[in-house]
Amino acid sequence: MCGIVGYVGKRKAYPVLIKGLHRLEYRGYDSAGVALLSNQHRLNVYKSQGKVSVLEDTAHNQDLSGNIGIAHTRWATHGEPSHRNSHPHTSRSGRLAMVHNGIIENYAELKQLLLDAGYTFKSDTDTEVVVQLIEYLQESLQLSFVDSVQKALQKVVGSYAIAVLDESEPDTLVAARKGSPLVVGVGDDELFLGSDASPIVEYTNRVIYLEDEDMVVLQAGFTTSEPKITLMTIHGEAKEPNIQQVTMNVSELEKGGYDHYMLKEICEQPHSLRCCIESAKQSLTPQTIELLNANRILITACGTSWHAGLVGKYAIEQLARLPVEVEHASEFRYRQPVISKGDIVVAISQSGETADTLAAIELARREGAKVLSICNVVGSSIPRASDAVVYTMVGPEIGVASTKAFTAQVAVLMMMALRLGHARGKLDEPLYTALTTEMDELPSKIESAIRQRESIRRMAQTLSFAQSCIYMGRGYNYPVALEGALKLKEISYIHAEGYPAAEMKHGPIALISQEMPVVTIAPQGSIYDKLVSNVQEVCARHGRVMAIVTEGDTQVSKMADSIITIPKVSECLSPIVTIVPLQLLSYYVACIKGCDVDQPRNLAKSVTVE
Ligand code: F6R
Repeated sequence: MCGIVGYVGKRKAYPVLIKGLHRLEYRGYDSAGVALLSNQHRLNVYKSQGKVSVLEDTAHNQDLSGNIGIAHTRWATHGEPSHRNSHPHTSRSGRLAMVHNGIIENYAELKQLLLDAGYTFKSDTDTEVVVQLIEYLQESLQLSFVDSVQKALQKVVGSYAIAVLDESEPDTLVAARKGSPLVVGVGDDELFLGSDASPIVEYTNRVIYLEDEDMVVLQAGFTTSEPKITLMTIHGEAKEPNIQQVTMNVSELEKGGYDHYMLKEICEQPHSLRCCIESAKQSLTPQTIELLNANRILITACGTSWHAGLVGKYAIEQLARLPVEVEHASEFRYRQPVISKGDIVVAISQSGETADTLAAIELARREGAKVLSICNVVGSSIPRASDAVVYTMVGPEIGVASTKAFTAQVAVLMMMALRLGHARGKLDEPLYTALTTEMDELPSKIESAIRQRESIRRMAQTLSFAQSCIYMGRGYNYPVALEGALKLKEISYIHAEGYPAAEMKHGPIALISQEMPVVTIAPQGSIYDKLVSNVQEVCARHGRVMAIVTEGDTQVSKMADSIITIPKVSECLSPIVTIVPLQLLSYYVACIKGCDVDQPRNLAKSVTVE
């Protein structure tokens, strides 16, 4: 995970780097640091444990001069979150500074080589091993800065995005990637580096997405006045930079008057869903539907995206009558799954950078299956590794807890199911037309759920006292129960479990007491009556039920302690509406408990390590 920023140009580097780190803080916030090549061509490194704001306090009143620098915000992998493990890491002489995102798998072996050569280490990180290795190669083989970085990367096994500075070459920044993302921004007389385009877009919309094993040399051109980009592979082959335009705009990266990104992203779902549905209509061409019309669909994803995949399975099997399996990417990649050429793998990822999902795609393609990805971040690694992509187009999702990405992923899967069912002749014309039309009405149904914020906030007061909580639903709303429980635990740290309601009596009902709230997702639908019985079973054991019900509901409403109503919606489309009050519920519980909603403890938004 971790976020990297770099700057080379005529501006003062420090403010650009700090602003960039704030934009990338969603990637990790255990510690932050910056390295600047000062006006006196000295390498100044400042770092601190904690968020970027702590780094700003640390750096205050220090020499922050210089037009070239690198910076980092960390999500700890090797070594605990601490000052000494914070990036940038420096070499023995203090001449080199490096920031890194990823994991160096052979770091122990490389460290031993350096220990044998008399090197000592100041941190527990794999990153420090690489920066020391670069200096070791520079000195022992008399290599230039660029050549020594290249040579070191040839010895490294693992994943990385790195940026390195050398005090003795004060106009040069070297960066490289393998398995972790890195983007170069090309301004008129300045160059930027970022783990994604968010720290770059307010200066330029021209970017170069580095490919795996690319290495780039960014030079300030103090003598030529023009900054220069040299692109090559880590094996020394020259490459022509492919400059592309990004469409992201700066206002999408701001909170826009909301207290938190999460609340903004929940509330913008009516709009984001409209954008997603329009984009999916274009992307789901007859060719894409033909690609999906395989013997079997294997959906792979992690976390919230996996929950969306589970809704997709219900929809595709019901509406298109095609077998679907849903797998956690982290399991799929290691359990030798049976994949055949007639299968299609659908990979779902908001960020497009989740390491396990990327590895699952690579495995599927090696086994001969085609891969279609559903992704939000344009140009990220997962769509680039896939045969086809459908973008959700909901704009940047910055709150660590995923919200608008989920509703969009489900919407895309639903459209896939509808078009596939129609193309396969499994869905009659009137139903196909009715459901397709209803999809366009979903944004206003979500709006109506959002309008009930006050009642949801009141429900949250009660839930905020709970130690533990159960979410239950059936059919299409079982994955919603899982997702609602995940939202609660990740931002309010209250233990929560999602269950298929009828499974309660096979064990979990033993947990029911007055202290155990049971959040029940009970919209009208074919299975409503069965769910009513499950709610009765909970009430008979003095459980406290909070329910999401359809407007006009009578049965569950009578038994529940509190209810939130949603408009009438077809069963298969209901998860897109029922999840919204649950997102708000967890949001308000976290606020009441004083939790850090956008940056919950121990988490980071994109998990680029396994
Ligand atoms: C939960 C959450 C995570 C992500 C998971 C996959 O709110 O955000 O569970 O869904 O890390 O991330 P993507 O979708 O980027 O692959």
